[in-house]
Amino acid sequence: MNNTDFYDLIYTVPLSELRERYPVAQDFFENLNIPPLDESQPLPDALMDVDAQWLDEFGITRQEIADQLASFLGTMTESEPARSIGCLTIIGGTDKNGAPEDITLDILPGSVVSIVGPTGSGKSRLLADIECLAQGDTPTARRVLIDGAAVPEDERFTLEGKLVAQLSQNMNFVMDLSVMEFLEMHARSRSIETDETVLRECFECANSLAGESFGSDTKVTQLSGGQSRALMIADCAFISQSPIVLIDEIENAGVDRRAAVAILAKREKIVLISTHDPLLALGADRRIVIKNGGIFRVIETSPREREAAAEFERIDRQLSDARAKLRSGERLE
Ligand SMILES: Nc1ncnc2c1ncn2[C@@H]1O[C@H](COP(=O)(O)OP(=O)(O)O)[C@@H](O)[C@H]1O
Ligand SMILES: [Mg+2]
Repeated sequence: MNNTDFYDLIYTVPLSELRERYPVAQDFFENLNIPPLDESQPLPDALMDVDAQWLDEFGITRQEIADQLASFLGTMTESEPARSIGCLTIIGGTDKNGAPEDITLDILPGSVVSIVGPTGSGKSRLLADIECLAQGDTPTARRVLIDGAAVPEDERFTLEGKLVAQLSQNMNFVMDLSVMEFLEMHARSRSIETDETVLRECFECANSLAGESFGSDTKVTQLSGGQSRALMIADCAFISQSPIVLIDEIENAGVDRRAAVAILAKREKIVLISTHDPLLALGADRRIVIKNGGIFRVIETSPREREAAAEFERIDRQLSDARAKLRSGERLE
């Protein structure tokens, strides 16, 4: 289910049925503090009875309420408990000239694969193929198998949102929620026991990943781009159940990306990350090199490369120390 599907539902299904199918919608309405609605109608119709003055006071239009509910349900239900998977397989298709890729690539839980290649070469396309569990029906003609088998057509679209989390998404719904309330709500919507310690761990993880720290009572709407990204990554590691995580080029996002990838791998996720950052590329177990739309090579990170990466990391730290010092008016002595 994506936002458009939810949009359609919101416009066609009576509110009572919507609530029944998505109990988490209750949280949305409570948070909005909306007057009681006629539940026998779809939301947009029911909203016609709401006082214009109430809307004015809230500074929100009827259309925006429907938009936000669609976005909210999209995020909250995005990865409902999924089955765990043992292996993701990518079967090569063709590059942009139609030349065969001639490759079968197995990726196991807990392993990280980076995707490198020039801009426009097809990195995002490969991630998109995985996200939609391609069956030869995308421009690349690749096929994606789960545990060695193609996903049956009727399961494919229901599984899509459950197996794969895309970390380029962010929280674009506006709600008056604190970080901790958001995590609690999210855990509840995924029917995980709202275990206090898991939520705390998740919060602390988010904080360790974000450049600037934030409190558990900070409103999600007040988080910076980097902070909300960090929260989504931590959420993905601790609360979301999707076994596959796709990350498309999060450079300069104010997030410790290397730590983030390590945490996701430790939680036994299959992580694929497209990147131009040599440290992220070398931090992976393997890297897929994309050329002209095709998988050109798959290279295992060698011990020598790992040593080089450690050295780069030292240099990187020195650079950011120097940056911080210069910024605050110190001398480099
Ligand atoms: N194997 C392929 N066959 C046909 N078109 C492709 C193939 N791979 C990529 N493309 C297309 O090339 C364009 C650029 O790819 P994209 O994945 O956005 O590049 P990148 O993320 O590396 O910058 C997109 O329109 C994509 O659909
Ligand atoms: Mg791209």
